[in-house]
Amino acid sequence: MTKLRVDVGDGPLSAEYQRLLRTALRRGEGDPEAALAHARLEGEYDPQILAIACDAWLRRMLHEHHSATIFSRLLPQLIEAEVTLDVKAVVLRMSMDELRHASLCAGMVRLLDGEPEIDAELKTDPLPRHEDAGRFEAALRNALFAGLSETVALALLTEERELATEPAARAVLEQLAADEVLHAKLGWGLLTEARERLDAQAWSRLDAYLPIAFGTLEMRMHEAMPLGPPRSDGELEALEALGAMESREGRVIFARAMTEVVIPRLAAEGLEAERAWADRRLER
Ligand SMILES: [Fe+2]
Ligand SMILES: [Fe+2]
Repeated sequence: MTKLRVDVGDGPLSAEYQRLLRTALRRGEGDPEAALAHARLEGEYDPQILAIACDAWLRRMLHEHHSATIFSRLLPQLIEAEVTLDVKAVVLRMSMDELRHASLCAGMVRLLDGEPEIDAELKTDPLPRHEDAGRFEAALRNALFAGLSETVALALLTEERELATEPAARAVLEQLAADEVLHAKLGWGLLTEARERLDAQAWSRLDAYLPIAFGTLEMRMHEAMPLGPPRSDGELEALEALGAMESREGRVIFARAMTEVVIPRLAAEGLEAERAWADRRLER
């Protein structure tokens, strides 16, 4: 097994990375890197709670880092799909955002007395080619899948940010949530374009893809939120203060985001999303 370690280095590109943080990747007035640089925990926590929160931030670090590969791998597919240049450029910004998110999570891990290092398979798989689909359609499916994950991630992050009381955790969650708003737009934007670009057959193929997208998404989300032993109210509150929501609660928010946000929105675009959710599965 290989290891993912997340450090911002000090080589020849590090000054440019810092400049990107201040310019292209900046969003609003937030400066989560500064919040982390001077951070100390304000509350008192049981060491066991700190360890659980640290582990949650480590897993989030890995997940964010991995997301960077999804967006960068979308670029060649978007080129094949003949989309406009803004979409191609912004998808790379999304990829940079995700690497930065990994670095912010690494900062939280350090604040919680951990090392930003986790055993992980570093080799990643190519995005699905969707051989049954045209080029735009294939890119749309992958972008839409990414958009659905971003939409549910946003619901989770928003809730976690509301519950977090540690200022550093709030600053980090604030940045993550603000960026995920943009990331979710990629898939939803292409779906709007799809109304004009896809014929009826392609549209029904997209409908047929939805149960697999939903099943895969649910499996990945549940993998990212493994269920541990039940916690007391006090423990849950302490974890929430540190920006680490417990998985049971996370799974409930995921399901709610699907039924209250994702499905109605897909249905409004004319897709049979409610039926797809009921039929969700992993394989054709
Ligand atoms: Fe992210
Ligand atoms: Fe994202």
